[in-house]
Amino acid sequence: MKMHRALLLGSIAALALAGGSTSVAAPPGTVHPKLWPKAHSPAAMTDPRTEARASALLRRMSLEEKVGQVIQADIASITPEDLKTYPLGSVLAGGNSGPGGDDRASAQTWLKSIRAFRAVSTEARPNHVPIPMMFGLDAVHGNNNIPGAVIFPHNVGLGATRDPALIGAIGRVTAEEAAVIGTDWTFGPTLAVPQDLRWGRTYEGYGEDPSIARAYAPAMVQGLQGALPAQGSIGRGRLIASAKHFLADGGTSGGRDQGDAAISETELIRLHAQGYAPAIDAGALTVLVSYSSWQGVKNHGNRGLLTDALKGRMGFEGFVVGDWNGHGQVPGCTPTNCPQAINAGLDMYMAPDGWKALYTNTLQQARSGQIPMARLDDAVRRILRVKLKAGLFDSARPLEGRFELLGAPDHRALARRAVRESLVLLKNSGGLLPLKASRKILVAGDGADDIGKQSGGWTISWQGTGNSNADFPHGQSIWSGISEAVAAGGGKAELSADGSFTKRPDVAIVVFGEQPYAEFQGDIPNLEYQPGVKRDLALLKRLKAQGVPVVSVFLSGRPLWTNPEINASDAFVAAWLPGSEGGGVADVLIRKPDGSVRSDFHGRLSYAWPSKAGQGARADRAKAPQFAFGYGLTYADRRGVGRLSEDSGVGQGATGDPNVFFRTGRAQGAWIMRLTDAGGGAEASGPKAASPGGAVAMSAVDAGGQETARAFAWSGAGEAAIAINGPAADLQRQTNGDMAVSMRLRVDAPATAPVRMDLGCAGKTCASLDLTRLLAAQPSGEWRTLKVKLACFRELGADMTRITTPFALRTAGALKLSLADVALVANTGDAVCP
Ligand code: BGC
Ligand code: BGC
Repeated sequence: MKMHRALLLGSIAALALAGGSTSVAAPPGTVHPKLWPKAHSPAAMTDPRTEARASALLRRMSLEEKVGQVIQADIASITPEDLKTYPLGSVLAGGNSGPGGDDRASAQTWLKSIRAFRAVSTEARPNHVPIPMMFGLDAVHGNNNIPGAVIFPHNVGLGATRDPALIGAIGRVTAEEAAVIGTDWTFGPTLAVPQDLRWGRTYEGYGEDPSIARAYAPAMVQGLQGALPAQGSIGRGRLIASAKHFLADGGTSGGRDQGDAAISETELIRLHAQGYAPAIDAGALTVLVSYSSWQGVKNHGNRGLLTDALKGRMGFEGFVVGDWNGHGQVPGCTPTNCPQAINAGLDMYMAPDGWKALYTNTLQQARSGQIPMARLDDAVRRILRVKLKAGLFDSARPLEGRFELLGAPDHRALARRAVRESLVLLKNSGGLLPLKASRKILVAGDGADDIGKQSGGWTISWQGTGNSNADFPHGQSIWSGISEAVAAGGGKAELSADGSFTKRPDVAIVVFGEQPYAEFQGDIPNLEYQPGVKRDLALLKRLKAQGVPVVSVFLSGRPLWTNPEINASDAFVAAWLPGSEGGGVADVLIRKPDGSVRSDFHGRLSYAWPSKAGQGARADRAKAPQFAFGYGLTYADRRGVGRLSEDSGVGQGATGDPNVFFRTGRAQGAWIMRLTDAGGGAEASGPKAASPGGAVAMSAVDAGGQETARAFAWSGAGEAAIAINGPAADLQRQTNGDMAVSMRLRVDAPATAPVRMDLGCAGKTCASLDLTRLLAAQPSGEWRTLKVKLACFRELGADMTRITTPFALRTAGALKLSLADVALVANTGDAVCP
């Protein structure tokens, strides 16, 4: 907010100095279209035949059918039958959604389910204009929701290849594998230009410099869609692209996901708009709006951005889709009610769970004129245009059901090439790499034989968690690739995750790095790798101490501060999130059996690498990078890397996981534990405490380690509560993302009266759930994890943007219960509303 005022004052002052002008400074978030790059969707997108067909359909459609077109529901909350009553234009599968509620459904099941939706939308019935439903999902590094599909490196790795032709080829294969299961549309490419590595979506962007997004945008759009033909529709086996997230998703302050880009319009255009103009020129059929704000104004409600800049100056003729309930964040809107968004220029609401009420409200607003008919007609025309141009009305779908194409050998070969090209060599002391295939090689680290970890987020599940190698029937782990290459050269490779061995190896390759994450769950306070624990560093040091030369292969969604790990390694490779073709790593690291180099390093950093953990911001890294943007050694380039500073620059305790409220017997971060009864409230910090009136008491107990949990005893003498309190936290994103409050607890003596679980907003109890039955169902004396969805509290009216008590338990009865952990976690199907 300060920034906005400064911007305003700045321009007022400038006007005053220029002397004379009486015009008032524009309010925050105002767009000046003339400053924006000029672009235009190809004429082929609006060819006369397509437009005439759209007009004819529009004339026949009822108001209900028009409103239906502008709404998209998630597959988890809609059945094909529903489309008879609610003629929606589109269905998506979000990151955690799959047919029949099964995230890991087979490709066959996906196709069956998508066809069932399509059939209802296109069937002939009275009072129904058949219009095919458009099915979308996040095929963002291959058709990544489907077990068996080839998984390409995430965009952070592709950015390092600097190879637009490769990007086009990847787009083509992604489209083919998506077409196999009947998908029409992918929510990609991401054209973010991430400016702060703390952002959990950094890996979805190609790089911090807009030149890469500018070069890749048209390559990916045309790879996915093909070129738009002057007449007729794009070829079969092609996929509708969406350029996302419009705009400045990667420009938010502190890298906060869904945050605010507090920057000038010049910066907005210079950094963040650069990929969009070429994407539009290349024929991108859809654009997806960013959750974030610019100068404090939510993009979903910013007419200047969506209408004046995007559709006006940049000549975009396709349609604009919102993000997952993103319209609900516009001031005055909710997920089920938001005429502001469509009036600002949104053409299709992504309304995963609230589509039914949104349909009713939007219909009413169209009737009343609150949404002008011309605006609704324009939105529907754009949607019909895209459906026609994409060939959704044609019945031939030659790739559907050709399941052998998922993870086909040539697709895998392409992905493996992408892995080879994406690896960036940061250090290679004494030319340790490439390794002779005849050597005895130890392969260690928890990433060595884990295809899920090497693939990262947006892989089968939303966060990329919960995957095992069995989920990748065509994939190969990094270990498996190394073992093949070494076997071919007569050497011996041994897998040992913890690095232990009986006979000393010639060299160790240690594969380690970030655990999978997506969206805001990957936001971090600073760039230090493994703050506090340094488990992998200990492994590297142990090997070095045993006289084994160490090659580190670092898996991550972004550059992190890893100076201690680099010092402890003889060679260090940034491998990003390479995906299912781990064999590409061995292609570069291991020589051919005849001793020649199989493949040299090619990748160059698309984000500068930090020299201090506090260098999240691009500007800070640019001043003093450890490795500059564009850095990357080859086998001929023997530039040495001396000993790096091991001063992270951030104090101890500055870190910590914002999702953890209570652990190891104490409240975490800024949170405190309070015990309250009729006598008042008191903070409980040490191992022992009691509420002022003595109705609830706390003492230390063991849970796996000494005194790592706390036991709470309610006496039954009046109502008493235990509560986690702190400064207001905004848990809106976590609620929208279906996270849950997880409690690891043990019931020691059952409750003699009802137990409530409360949530506090802005200092007051704002929602309360009855936990009595859930607790009563827990076996006495055993540790159990209970997960309660945040959405349960929102449904009771809690304002999730100002949570001051994320957890509290209250009873007037007697109860004994021990608590080890209270944290926010992903709902993996095991969270409930009690
Ligand atoms: C993400 C988008 C994604 C959409 C659908 C949103 O939460 O921000 O990138 O396309 O969900 O899964
Ligand atoms: C994501 C979806 C995901 C959902 C989980 C959203 O924020 O974008 O893709 O499926 O949360 O419920």
